[in-house]
Amino acid sequence: MSNGQHITILAIESSCDDTSAAVSRNGIILSNIIAGQEIHARYGGVVPELASRAHQQHILPVVTAALSEAKVSKSELSAVAFTRGPGLIGSLLVGTSFSKGMSLGLGIPLIEVNHMQAHIIANFAVREDGQLNPPEFPFLCLTVSGGHTQLVVVRSFLDMEIIGETQDDAAGEAFDKVAKMIGLPYPGGPLIDKWASQGNPAAYRFPKPHAPELNFSFSGLKTAVLYFLQKERIKSPDFPGERLADLCASVQSTIVDILLDKLTLAADRTGIRRIALAGGVSANSGLRNGLHRIAVEKGWDVFIPAMEYCTDNAGMIAIIGHHKYLAGEFAPLDTVPLARYPF
Ligand code: KG4
Ligand code: ZN
Repeated sequence: MSNGQHITILAIESSCDDTSAAVSRNGIILSNIIAGQEIHARYGGVVPELASRAHQQHILPVVTAALSEAKVSKSELSAVAFTRGPGLIGSLLVGTSFSKGMSLGLGIPLIEVNHMQAHIIANFAVREDGQLNPPEFPFLCLTVSGGHTQLVVVRSFLDMEIIGETQDDAAGEAFDKVAKMIGLPYPGGPLIDKWASQGNPAAYRFPKPHAPELNFSFSGLKTAVLYFLQKERIKSPDFPGERLADLCASVQSTIVDILLDKLTLAADRTGIRRIALAGGVSANSGLRNGLHRIAVEKGWDVFIPAMEYCTDNAGMIAIIGHHKYLAGEFAPLDTVPLARYPF
């Protein structure tokens, strides 16, 4: 099974619109190959059927490239780890079926990984030559992606508790939907971020929808921006036009405030001062700057994964895979992917 003393994991991620494969050895990432899918941009969002087909085309070349870059042969693999969920079921099926084939063909164990837990554990992702100062347990993580917004107490690699989450749209979804209304292409989050850097965040005021306790709500913001755009476009039909940067900065600062208000409440309530970010939206510069500002005030230690490990990638799947291998947590061959997959 494992080669000598080494634990070598092949990891596969296919939950949404990125096909990714990674190889880790003893918890260190040797390769992390990601193939995106440009086809969705023209539809303004991910089209599930097209995503599954693209995964099917990408998966073999991506796995081959990950093994080759890691200089690892299939016979050296200790186990195959894959994303079981949450995600688009057709997309998940491609990675799951491929992983089962590898496991059966090579006679090595199969390991199932929760995509949202993996995003958090991306804070431990390190390359052979990389420096890393990962958080000690327990820490608090704000996971912000295109499909999820969660506050999680992380007690160990395999023990995590969600203490708050969105009741409607995810933070990334809020960025992307507002971007679409403004006329920016999908995914709009990074573009709002780019325009926001040149704008005035106080130019326009949007309401912060109320959500109880440590939960989030973003759908009211989306509606508020929609009505605001309709009103402005009666006065000037090409709005936002020259005010694009101001509008992006104002929307971004509202989303960031909603996130940081609840993160602060969670830190105060739990007394945890080690704070991590995870997920695609942790690339957002407004969120990063805002978090660093509060951290100085509150005396928090802040952890943010390297950019390559913020968005969907198999490297993060490999790390959880490694720890599940150590714990002997293997999946049966009749396991099925789950569109919803609680911790
Ligand atoms: O974690 P991720 O790659 O995929 C999911 O699992 O959803 O997150 C993708 C999301 C998209 O909504 C994208 O617009 C958003 O992350 N995103 C950003 C930025 N970079 C990616 N949102 C705001 N600012 C960014 N710089
Ligand atoms: Zn993700």
